[in-house]
Amino acid sequence: MNNEQTIIITGGAGFIGSHVVRLFVKKYPNYKIINLDALTYAGNLENLKDIEGATNYVFEKVNILDVAELDRVFETYHPDGVIHLAAESHVDRSIVSPLDFVYTNVVGTVNLLNAAKKHWFDTDPTLNAKRFYHVSTDEVYGALGDTGFFTEETAYDPHSPYSASKASSDHFVRAYHDTYGLPVVLTNCSNNYGPNHFPEKLIPLMINNVIHKKPLPVYGDGLYTRDWLFVKDHATAIDAVYHKGANGETYNIGGFNEWKNIDLVKLLCKLADEKLGREDGESEQLITYVKDRPGHDRRYAIDATKINKELGWKPSVTFEEGLSQTIDWYLQNTDWLNHVTSGAYQNYYAEQYAEKS
Ligand code: NAD
Ligand code: DAU
Repeated sequence: MNNEQTIIITGGAGFIGSHVVRLFVKKYPNYKIINLDALTYAGNLENLKDIEGATNYVFEKVNILDVAELDRVFETYHPDGVIHLAAESHVDRSIVSPLDFVYTNVVGTVNLLNAAKKHWFDTDPTLNAKRFYHVSTDEVYGALGDTGFFTEETAYDPHSPYSASKASSDHFVRAYHDTYGLPVVLTNCSNNYGPNHFPEKLIPLMINNVIHKKPLPVYGDGLYTRDWLFVKDHATAIDAVYHKGANGETYNIGGFNEWKNIDLVKLLCKLADEKLGREDGESEQLITYVKDRPGHDRRYAIDATKINKELGWKPSVTFEEGLSQTIDWYLQNTDWLNHVTSGAYQNYYAEQYAEKS
């Protein structure tokens, strides 16, 4: 691959995107990284303060629904690659506002595919060294019972408006490969956790509530299972797939790390109590079972053998280490937490959790 390439990373101000942007800006000083992000409630340039002055980094505030703006960005920078992470990403919000997910996740992805197709075929019809990388989720595969794993061959069976929109976007990316020959690669990853995670998702929401001694809302019976991966390990997987993944292929990414929600929340409480100098068991008392999420998928678990065998990728930290580092990050970054939980977050929280009590 070209040593001096330009890559557009969409959603680079979000949780995972900011870790991917940082990794690429620091690891590849000869690359030019364009962070293209609309800065929705989930996008936050504070996530990138440490690299905002880097000479190989540019921020473009652009909505992927704005076709003219996408044209402008492609014409300005002539990117060699796109790593597409911009999305509406929270299942609970998708249940309240499904159309927002159709617009950004489906229409926005097709807009980007069109921009890449138009500009790349115009400039280099051989599509030499071009790459459109679509970042997706394991939720497209639906739900597992007590056993088994999602592989790259598992049939799609999405249940939430979020996963239905991501499944649809995956199909469009593959269709542009099969129909127009666009060079694409896809990954479907399990649940991420780590620094900069917006506190609407399970782990950062629980950390924030533990800090403030607020109830810890566990949906349903708490026995739902997720496969957790430290966000920096997802970023290294994206690096491996972007550079070494085969054209047209899909790779599953996972942590080999399944936790039932209630066990995870109890571990989090124990670690937080130690760090906050509280009595062992104090935060656990805040656990409150609340009304279940409609259409709640029972279990996700990824078989990540393909990426491990073919590209040599594997997670680098254990869950206990990653969770401990994550809690430390939130305890040390109270300004970040206060900024993102003021204003609109309060209204979201009140509406979302009032319905569940
Ligand atoms: P996030 O919600 O933290 O960030 C999304 C980013 O996209 C934000 O910066 C936001 O401003 C931007 N964005 C949203 N709509 C946009 C639009 N219309 N135009 C331009 N930018 C827009 O999401 P995340 O958790 O970092 O997830 C990133 C990607 O990874 C998503 O595609 C998601 O489906 C996928 N994914 C997430 C997880 C996870 O556990 N969080 C796991 C697997 C896959
Ligand atoms: O699997 C990958 C997906 O993981 C990503 O594609 C999504 O973008 C990401 O949001 C995440 O989806 P989940 O729905 O699994 O994550 P969430 O953190 O919302 O919930 C994790 C589990 O915790 C799920 O079983 C619901 C439960 N939960 C969640 C919240 C917010 C609770 O019990 N209480 C809560 O308050």
